[in-house]
Amino acid sequence: MNPKYNDDAKERVRQRVDIAAVVGRYVNLKQRGRVMVGLCPFHKEKSPSFQVNPDMGVYYCFGCGKGGDLFSFVEEMEGVGFREALEMLADEAGVELPRYERREWPGEPPPEAGGRGAGAVKADLLDIHKLAAEFYYKSVKSNPQAVNYFKSRGLSAETVKEFGLGYAPEGWDGLLNYLLGKKIPLQKIIECGLAVSKEGGQPYDRFRNRVIFPLCDLSGRVIAFAGRGLSADAQPKYLNSSESALYKKSNVLYGLHKARDGIRELGYVIIVEGYMDYLTLYQAGIRNAAAASGTAFTEEHAHLIKRVAGKATLVFDGDRAGLSAAQRAAFILAPLDLQVSILALPGDDDPDSFVKREGSDAFRSLLDKARPAADFLIDKLISESDGSPYGRSKVIDELIPYAYALNDDVVRGNFLDRLAQRARVDRRIVVNKFNNYRPSSSGEAQPAVPVNSDKPIVVGTLEEGFLSALIAAPKLIATARQFISPEILTDPVAENIYSIMLGAYDRDGGLEGLLDACGGDEPLKRFVSKLSVTSVPLEHLEDELVQKISILRQKYFKARIADVRAELSVCSAAEERERLLERLRDYGEQLKESDLRE
Ligand code: UTP
Ligand code: MN
Repeated sequence: MNPKYNDDAKERVRQRVDIAAVVGRYVNLKQRGRVMVGLCPFHKEKSPSFQVNPDMGVYYCFGCGKGGDLFSFVEEMEGVGFREALEMLADEAGVELPRYERREWPGEPPPEAGGRGAGAVKADLLDIHKLAAEFYYKSVKSNPQAVNYFKSRGLSAETVKEFGLGYAPEGWDGLLNYLLGKKIPLQKIIECGLAVSKEGGQPYDRFRNRVIFPLCDLSGRVIAFAGRGLSADAQPKYLNSSESALYKKSNVLYGLHKARDGIRELGYVIIVEGYMDYLTLYQAGIRNAAAASGTAFTEEHAHLIKRVAGKATLVFDGDRAGLSAAQRAAFILAPLDLQVSILALPGDDDPDSFVKREGSDAFRSLLDKARPAADFLIDKLISESDGSPYGRSKVIDELIPYAYALNDDVVRGNFLDRLAQRARVDRRIVVNKFNNYRPSSSGEAQPAVPVNSDKPIVVGTLEEGFLSALIAAPKLIATARQFISPEILTDPVAENIYSIMLGAYDRDGGLEGLLDACGGDEPLKRFVSKLSVTSVPLEHLEDELVQKISILRQKYFKARIADVRAELSVCSAAEERERLLERLRDYGEQLKESDLRE
C-alpha cells in the first residue's frame, strides 16, 4: 500500500477532528488559558497535570510524561495500533479511507498494522464482541420469551435497540456456531470469555437462555456482556463475561458512555446499583446516571467518576445491604475530593421499582434530598449505636479513618465538627482521637500533601520557555530567528527542535506540521507536546520573548567570551593573541547589544 495515502487521510482527519472533543470523552477538561487541563487518563492522580493544546492538536501529562497527538492518544487509550486509531477517527470525521482488504480470520494483519501487538489483539476482540452483540440482538426477534421479558420489565423497543439488548438462546452452541461460521478461531472466542472449554470437553456458550446487556467502554464499543436469567430462580441471577484483555469487571460503569452529555449538563453523575435501574431511569428521561456492573462499588469506579464529574449522587436500596454498600462506597470515594451525596431509597425499592411506581419527578425530588456523604455516614452510625458513651465512642472510632481519608482541610474540619456535635462530645476529644489515629498497615491512604492544582505549570528551562513562546505565537518566529540561530541554544534537544521549527515554519508559514516534522522520533514528539501545553503568559508574550532572547544571547556571548579568555590564557603566539583579542572585542560588542530590552 502506498504509505502516502495514510498521510493524506491522517491530515484530513486531523483537520476535522478536535482533539479536545476526543480527549473530552475520557477526561473532564477545564479551560485554563490557551490549554485545557484534566486528570491524566494514563496514571492515577488527584490533581490535574494532564494538558491539551487544541490549537496545536497535542496533549501532554506533566505527571507521567505521556504526550502526543490525536492518533497516539486514541492508540494509547484504546490499546489499538495506528491503523485502528486512524479508522476509528476517520469514521467519526466522515473521512473516507481508500479501500483495503479487510483482515480475514485467521489472517495476517495489513502490513502497516505493524504485526500483532497488544493493539491488534484488542482490535480482534472488539470485532468479535461486535459480532456477538449483533447475534444476541438479532436473537431477540425469534425468541418470544425474550420479547416478553423486555415487555414485562417495561423496556421499550427503542430502548432495546438503543442499548443493543439481546438474548442468548437456550442450547450450548448458538453463539459459538455463529462465530465459528464467521471464521473466528475458537481460541479467540474463549479469549473473549464468550465460550467456555472445560479440560478436554466440548466448548460451549457461556451465556445460555439469558437476556443480554452489552457492556461498553467510554466510546460505546462493546467490551463484554452481562446476562440475566429469565426465570426467578436462575443461578446466578446475573452472569458477566469473564475478564479479558478488553474487560475488567471493576472498571465498568454501565451506561456511562451515554451519560456524558447529561452529566455535563447537570453537573453530577447518579450512580445506581443495577442495569435495570439504569435503563428505567434512562427511559424516564434521567440521563446522567451509570450503574456499577456485576460488582460492588470499587476504587476504579471512583476514579472513573472523578474523570467525568466533580459531583456524584449514589443511590442505594434502603435495606441493610444497601446501606452498608453505601457506607463502603463513601469510604472509597473519600480521598478523591468529590462532592458525594447519598440517597437511600425508602422500603424495598430500587430505582427501577420506585420510578415505575412513582414516576421520574418523584425520583428527582428524592435526588434533591440526597444527604451529603459525611452526614449520611454520621447519621447511619449514630442511629445504629445504642447511644451509650461506649457506643458513641465506637462511632467516632469508626469514622476517624473517613476523616483521615479526606484531603481537603476545610472539608475534614467540617466533618470533625459535625461528628463531635452528633456524638455529643467536645470537639477536642474528636480532634484528639484524630491526631492519635494511625492507619493500619492495610494500606489506607495517607492524606496527600495538598497540591495547588490551579498553579500554572511553568516550564523548566529558559530554552524550553523560549520554544514554548514560539509555539504559542508562531508569528514571532520571524523576529526570533533574527537574533537566535539554532546553535545559540545549548541544549541539543532544544537546538534540534528549534531547527525543525524553523523548517516547518518556512514550509507551512505556521507550526501545524511541527509534530509530523519530528518524524518517528517519539521522545522528540513528546517533548514538543510538552512545550505545546506549557502555559505561557499570552498578554505579554512579545515582551517575554524579547526578554528570553536577550538572556539567551547574553548567556551565549558570555560563554563564548569565557572560551576565548581561556584560550588567551594559554596562548603566547603574538599573532594568534591578536586574533583572539579581536574576537573578544567582537563578542563584547555583541554582548552589549544583546540586551534588546529598553
Ligand atoms: P440486584 O440483585 O439488586 O438486581 O443486583 P437488580 O439490579 O434489581 O436486577 P433485577 O431488577 O432483579 O433484574 C444489582 C446488581 O448487582 C449485580 C448486577 O450488576 C445487578 O444489576 N449482580 C446481581 C450480579 O452481578 N450478579 C448477581 O447474581 C446479582
Ligand atoms: Mn431491580
